Amino acid sequence: MNPALRKPLIAGNWKMYKTVSEAVNTARELVACAASAPVEVMIAPPFTALASVAAVVRGTPVALAAQNLHWKNEGAYTGEISPVMLTDVGCQYVIIGHSERRQFFGETDDTVNARIQAALTHKLIPILCVGETEAQRESHETFSVLDKQMVKGLEGVPFAADSHLVVAYEPVWAIGTGKTATTDQIQEVHAFLRGVIDKRLDNPLAKSVRILYGGSVKPENASEIMNMPDVDGALVGGASLSAATFDRIIHF
Ligand code: 13P
Repeated sequence: MNPALRKPLIAGNWKMYKTVSEAVNTARELVACAASAPVEVMIAPPFTALASVAAVVRGTPVALAAQNLHWKNEGAYTGEISPVMLTDVGCQYVIIGHSERRQFFGETDDTVNARIQAALTHKLIPILCVGETEAQRESHETFSVLDKQMVKGLEGVPFAADSHLVVAYEPVWAIGTGKTATTDQIQEVHAFLRGVIDKRLDNPLAKSVRILYGGSVKPENASEIMNMPDVDGALVGGASLSAATFDRIIHF
């Protein structure tokens, strides 16, 4: 963590959990704890709860994210949500290319790229998720897989002077499994990603990119992960669903 260069971000991805009332209640509890946190705090509720949660977090230190977006502003795309709709509802961030979308919903590096461009055009901060599967790690492909996801995801993206980007390293084998990567594995990958970012993006954007770790982050391991030199935050799934548990993570 290097707070002098980058304000750490701890983000909760609520995935397909919580009705509107459940989301509002958790968001209210979180607003009460977030003010004293030494990090920026963000939550990504399901689409159905965005408007109601936006009303709770507006003007508070809790930022709002969507879990995905379509790259077109509007159109005949049944079931999709556009960047215009997300900024209208009050989102500042959007998660893009989560491994669950890549695994179960046909997300590719090309669609990730289109979504990143759309997010930036609408001044939404993209959280680009990358990560290797267990089989890829075992066959020593981790770094080539991550390099491809980064390079293809960011290829030709027209960053502006005021653009922001967040990258989340989420090893697929550590998501929801209770198997956290070791701090050595995390630091090794984050240092590699930092190198890719430095090579691909211009300063000062490159220096401002925060790299989050995600995969079975919990109160018990948050502090050792956050203390790694190239870790700028965490993307938390299961342990962000309870405000009391998430509170212990944001106050690691
Ligand atoms: P878990 O924290 O439940 O492992 O999920 C991580 C994740 O996928 C966050 O986006």
